[in-house]
Amino acid sequence: MSTAPAAKVKWGVLGAGWLVQTATGAAIHHAAGAQLTATGARDIARAEATGAVRAYDNYQDVLDDLEVEAVYICLSNEAHLPWIRACIAAGKHVLCEKPMVLTEADAALVFAEADAAGVLLVEAVWSRWHPRMRRIVELASSGSLGEITNYVATFSFDGVAPDNYRLSPDHGGGALYDVGIYPLHAMFALLPAVESVTVLGVDQRRNDQGVDLTTIADLTWGGTTRASITGSFVMPESQVLTVIGTEGAVRVADNEAFATYQKPTELWVDGHLETFPSTNAYQVMFEEVSARIRGANGWLLPHRDSLRVARTVDSLL
Ligand SMILES: NC(=O)c1ccc[n+]([C@@H]2O[C@H](COP(=O)([O-])OP(=O)(O)OC[C@H]3O[C@@H](n4cnc5c(N)ncnc54)[C@H](OP(=O)(O)O)[C@@H]3O)[C@@H](O)[C@H]2O)c1
Repeated sequence: MSTAPAAKVKWGVLGAGWLVQTATGAAIHHAAGAQLTATGARDIARAEATGAVRAYDNYQDVLDDLEVEAVYICLSNEAHLPWIRACIAAGKHVLCEKPMVLTEADAALVFAEADAAGVLLVEAVWSRWHPRMRRIVELASSGSLGEITNYVATFSFDGVAPDNYRLSPDHGGGALYDVGIYPLHAMFALLPAVESVTVLGVDQRRNDQGVDLTTIADLTWGGTTRASITGSFVMPESQVLTVIGTEGAVRVADNEAFATYQKPTELWVDGHLETFPSTNAYQVMFEEVSARIRGANGWLLPHRDSLRVARTVDSLL
């Protein structure tokens, strides 16, 4: 007797900005086990352009849509906290773009609320779902790299439009929240035994409103271990990831350590090149979160990783 496939998870989307229009809207459409049921945006034409079954000119209507089971939040960063809480109160599962919230205290608050409500809450750090990143984590957790002693990671680009929320303190702007968070997530993925890191030094360049345009941080987790993390809006484009341990080293072979999108990728592992087929990690993310909502297997970014990253960001800003 064959088993009927699980019904697709009906997703709502809050916001229809750059990321939804260029990548994540399509990723939901293509994801097995997911349907883009409703999109809400301040401009209904942008909501309609996502191809959702229903479009709304506001976010609350998505939460009030009784068919919507899970909500993907893709709003400017300051709006994440209130809308996560509203989604949880409405009984919806939540996948929220990075940075999920702006402080560790807020992360702890919303995880506790989600647990109490019995809904999933996951930070959408898409790079963590990429097979190459998962291979790096596997190499670290299997012991192949030995004890990790050095970690160097950079995510920088040059050029944020002057009116973009990324430059506004009122909207949770800043390079650390926007791009520096990727090197931090990758680092903690490799350090399961490390609860917190110590900041040895931090260099920041800020705009006249106090938002960091560049954050360069030197971190340690004890002894002689070192990490150097860079996030910047005003440096040449670069995405570097190198991990050195007592038994081995890995280095991302291209300059797209955190934002590889729908093309084959490579990884140097102790002088050997490993290759990975073209992947849409956003699609993988929606497929795996949808599977978990249906009670099937699927990888979720652990709450602990979001908390450890948020704690480190607290100490750097
Ligand atoms: N995972 C990734 O690869 C990735 C890449 C880029 C961004 N992100 C994250 O995704 C989120 C959105 O980024 P984006 O690049 O798509 O940004 P964006 O194009 O500037 O869109 C920002 C969204 O925020 C909403 N918003 C609500 N109030 C706003 C206000 N007062 N000012 C500006 N925007 C407001 C807008 O919603 P309406 O549509 O209703 O107008 C808009 O869709 C951010 O949290 C960012 O960190 C993730």
